[in-house]
Amino acid sequence: MLWTTLLAFAAAADALPSVNKWWKRQGSTTMLRFGCAQVVIDRLDPLVQPGQAPSSHMHQIVGGNGFNTTMTTSDVSNTASCTTCAFSDDFSNYWTANVYFKARNGSYKRVKQLGAAKQFSDDYSTKIDGGVLVYYVSAQPGKITAFKPGFRMFVGDPTRRTADPNLKRQNCFRCYSGPNFGGDTAAPCQGTNDFTGFPPSPCAGGIRSNILFPTCWDGVNLDSPDHKQHIAYPSSGPATFLNLGGNCPSTHPVRIPQLMYEVVWDTTPFNNKADWPADGSQPFYLSYGDNTGYGQHGDYVFGWKGDALQIGMDASGCMGAKCKTMKNQAIDQGKSCQVSVKVKEDHDAWLTSLPGMDSMPMQM
Ligand SMILES: *[C@@H]1O[C@H](CO)[C@@H](O)[C@H](O)[C@H]1NC(C)=O
Ligand SMILES: *[C@@H]1O[C@H](CO)[C@@H](O)[C@H](O)[C@H]1NC(C)=O
Repeated sequence: MLWTTLLAFAAAADALPSVNKWWKRQGSTTMLRFGCAQVVIDRLDPLVQPGQAPSSHMHQIVGGNGFNTTMTTSDVSNTASCTTCAFSDDFSNYWTANVYFKARNGSYKRVKQLGAAKQFSDDYSTKIDGGVLVYYVSAQPGKITAFKPGFRMFVGDPTRRTADPNLKRQNCFRCYSGPNFGGDTAAPCQGTNDFTGFPPSPCAGGIRSNILFPTCWDGVNLDSPDHKQHIAYPSSGPATFLNLGGNCPSTHPVRIPQLMYEVVWDTTPFNNKADWPADGSQPFYLSYGDNTGYGQHGDYVFGWKGDALQIGMDASGCMGAKCKTMKNQAIDQGKSCQVSVKVKEDHDAWLTSLPGMDSMPMQM
């Protein structure tokens, strides 16, 4: 099905029970799409640099309050007591690098996040104020196996500064042409306004990051030394959004949900071309000093309670932020879940260097 059709139905499905029924009769795909408010912004990375405070660069984190300098490698849902996500059984943590604007005088300012683009009408799309939109897609034929307690993974390569042609449509930045997502309903990373690096010109409505994770698992290891070897792309290559049709390789035979992050960066206060570099290049940086965007990456620590995610993935036809077999929480409850900042740094000041990037060579 065309993404635009799906999107239209998904938006309507929030409001119209009859359309919801229509959607459910399609019966082959579940696409959970739900907001998670910010749980903390901190210079920690319990996946790649556990125990290190500060870690090498700044992150923005959503999900459960089990997020910590070091996190349990067993069941995270036993450590956390609340979550910022729409589904109250989801104590997972999702995080990415932050985006910064670099002024002509060399100072940096953190770019804040907007909530979701307003395609969807639920509270976690319209009232989230920042945070991340998280997607889990389960597409048949065949079984999709939800992640297990202790599972974690990483996607992307922070050291990359050139496009990876093999990863087309997996990791991108969309240039919103106007407010309210600029009306661009192309599938993530498949539209004409999607760039594999930072967009070269000002984006009137902000910039949206989409980060897709691999969809195959070795079925054994919950993690691996680089947090990637236990996962893989289908034999036919990376699955585009909503398309899990490809078979998994024999080394990684288990089909897992397609996880995608969507983050909307409010770059609009920085759109004055006179403040951009005189050579015409674009002024945005990821928090580890990447001015290309090609090193964009995402971190995931699974933390759903019990079978809650598997039940959702099996519930064929669930769309958006509601699913009859899954529990929701009110937006105010989600927003009240917070983790205190461990590495005390001013996140909103103009800075002479990116946090962690001043004295040492970049470290991953
Ligand atoms: C984080 O870890 C420390 C040290 O183990 C612990 O004292 C603290 O309670 C944890 N914080 C949270 C929010 O879990
Ligand atoms: C650098 O430029 C920005 C944007 O014009 C300004 O707000 C900031 O105060 C300047 N910083 C210094 C150190 O001059």
